[in-house]
Amino acid sequence: MLVYLNGEILPHESARIPVDDRGFLFADGIYEVARVYDGRPFRMDAHLARMADGLRAIRLEAPDLDRLAAVAEELLDRNNLRTGGATIYIQVTRGVAPRKHAFPANVTPTVYVAAKPFQDYPAEYFDAGVAAIRVADTRWARCDIKSVALLPNVLANQAAHEAGAFEAIFVRDGVLIEGSHSNLLGVIDGTLVTYPKCNYILGGITRDVVLDLARQLGIPTREGPIHEDRFADVTELFLSGTTTEVMPITRLDGRPVGDGTVGPITRRLQAAYRELTRSAA
Ligand SMILES: Cc1ncc(COP(=O)(O)O)c(C=O)c1O
Repeated sequence: MLVYLNGEILPHESARIPVDDRGFLFADGIYEVARVYDGRPFRMDAHLARMADGLRAIRLEAPDLDRLAAVAEELLDRNNLRTGGATIYIQVTRGVAPRKHAFPANVTPTVYVAAKPFQDYPAEYFDAGVAAIRVADTRWARCDIKSVALLPNVLANQAAHEAGAFEAIFVRDGVLIEGSHSNLLGVIDGTLVTYPKCNYILGGITRDVVLDLARQLGIPTREGPIHEDRFADVTELFLSGTTTEVMPITRLDGRPVGDGTVGPITRRLQAAYRELTRSAA
């Protein structure tokens, strides 16, 4: 596999980062993951716009992101990824400098781009649904920034893994807000409900696409809270994400969601999402 690091395309195993990289020392960086369907990056513009927002938020001067999109295309070609599934990963850190918290002067950001094959999750996850657990949201108050500082997400996802579940759902002030690497949507009284975009969640590209699809299908939508103590009113629950796509949750902490099967609104949105991502551009 070839990857891009700081202006050079080279074999993955030859790509090396100095130990003084601020991404390594401080998690001082931003990343993006985009999905590629049969060689076509999906919603690349939206991913690049979110990356630009994140870089601006941490005051890191953005490299030319269109150039990085072109690099990603070159990697898809050179790694023979024009058929089947793949992901594009982009990471920018503040660069290499002696370890001091404040920004170093005159440092060039570290820029990394990879394109790798992606194996879909098993079909049964989408068909029968997955289990999730709840965890307390211990993250900082800028979860809208797609920072590489993911330790709370790692710990939450590990807890899910150890519980035999697919995802951990962060709970803040009694509200189910998002997953460790996905957004959360539920159905209450026939309305699709998801936590509003704000500093407490990552504004998912997939979440936006799913909300658009719901509007096109005439499904009522509301950006608002899903309270954990109103769980009995939630008839359907699902995750959205670049690699997670539209993934039904049928059990939460061992309790069935609704009647414990994948609900009709989830199915319609799954079908519409599949159609959108798998149809020819
Ligand atoms: C915390 C978190 N929320 C939501 C998402 C979903 O975002 P997207 O649909 O853009 O992949 C992700 C994706 O990695 C995430 O890490």
